[in-house]
Amino acid sequence: MDKLDVIIIGAGASGLMCAAMAAYRGRNVLVLDHANKPGKKILMSGGGRCNFTNMDAAPKHFLSDNPHFCISALRRYTPQDFVDLVDRHGLDYVEKAPGQLFCEHSAKDLLAILMTELEWSGAQVKLNTRILNVEYQDDITVVTTNQGVFSCESLVIATGGLSIPTMGATGFGYEIAKQVGHDVLPTRASLVPITVQPERKEQLAALSGIACDVRASANEAQFEEPMLFTHRGVSGPAILQITNFWQPGEALQIHIAPDLSLEALNQARDQQPKKTLENYLANELPKRLVDLIKAEFPWLDQKFAQVSNEQIEQLFQYLSHFDVAPNGTEGYRTAEVTLGGVNTKEVSSKTFESQKQKGLYFIGEVLDVTGWLGGYNFQWAWSSGFAAGQYV
Ligand code: FDA
Repeated sequence: MDKLDVIIIGAGASGLMCAAMAAYRGRNVLVLDHANKPGKKILMSGGGRCNFTNMDAAPKHFLSDNPHFCISALRRYTPQDFVDLVDRHGLDYVEKAPGQLFCEHSAKDLLAILMTELEWSGAQVKLNTRILNVEYQDDITVVTTNQGVFSCESLVIATGGLSIPTMGATGFGYEIAKQVGHDVLPTRASLVPITVQPERKEQLAALSGIACDVRASANEAQFEEPMLFTHRGVSGPAILQITNFWQPGEALQIHIAPDLSLEALNQARDQQPKKTLENYLANELPKRLVDLIKAEFPWLDQKFAQVSNEQIEQLFQYLSHFDVAPNGTEGYRTAEVTLGGVNTKEVSSKTFESQKQKGLYFIGEVLDVTGWLGGYNFQWAWSSGFAAGQYV
């Protein structure tokens, strides 16, 4: 049996960060993963360029049943700390949207940095390793795998959530938690495209591939960002963001072109009375969307001057209450994250050690901490991995 100080299950973002930090402290660290490569989600994230942090990341950008849990780790390892790390390795990166940092070339560059840190720290990684059993004995934990039996003082669960099973996601972390009596809060696919009712799907199919600015609102949350029509429903940043707050069966409000207020429409009529409403809208919205609206309101081909107040009001109501008839989401197949997970009320926010089992730690997405879209989820992986890395 190989004896280690620390075993980390999961060679993803949080596991790799934790491994390097613990090994720099002189701990003998082994990372185990059933996948054939480390950091697969890092590689596929951000369209292959990984939105690796958000400079504005603050506790308000994270959802959890225990909202204070994330504060300590986010304070102890900030976005600037991660930027300092990648700067030391000379990573080229860009700020694509305010605060959102992406690799300039490829997410491979970021993974290479993490693997270099791992090498420098002396932490080892064993891939293609299936975990067969975990047993807690007095002061040690014994992990039986298809590659041998290992013992450790600290076992870190960094197996992430359920999204993208084809990339190696499993419910392993939740099972390990339940085995020692942890509460696991219900999980749900999030930051995920929404599917629509079959009748509406046919109507919206013509819009597939186009994007427009919307305000998406649900459960008192709202996001003003682009929405993309897909062949099965709607996606894009506004929709992904709102799925952290909305769930099937609940109300979802979509306001198309929120800048086109009733006031703005009336003002445009006064200023451009000879322009047809159709031409006016074509300047503001994609042509195919204007065609769909015209099918609803044939009078869009009239000049502004001929359009009544009631018609302007009707148009405004249509845009501000655009019904996409949502019926569900694309699920874990395409979701970026999993909401819910290991209840943080039973985990130390300082060390990330379980309050149910000595020597057992949970970090990253397996915990009930979910960030907004925009680099927050990786920041949580870095912060929680760093924090636990000081104690395991
Ligand atoms: P992560 O999922 O990274 O790692 C878990 C590891 O555990 C994997 O290597 C897996 O193989 C392993 N594992 C699982 N079960 C196991 C088992 N039974 N035995 C052994 N090993 C096991 N976030 C962000 O901030 N910016 C972004 O741009 C994106 N983009 C993005 C795109 C897509 C398509 C997805 C799916 C996700 C994102 N995310 C993101 C979210 C981000 O990828 C995610 O929150 C972090 O990777 C979570 O890090 P963890 O270390 O917790 O798990």
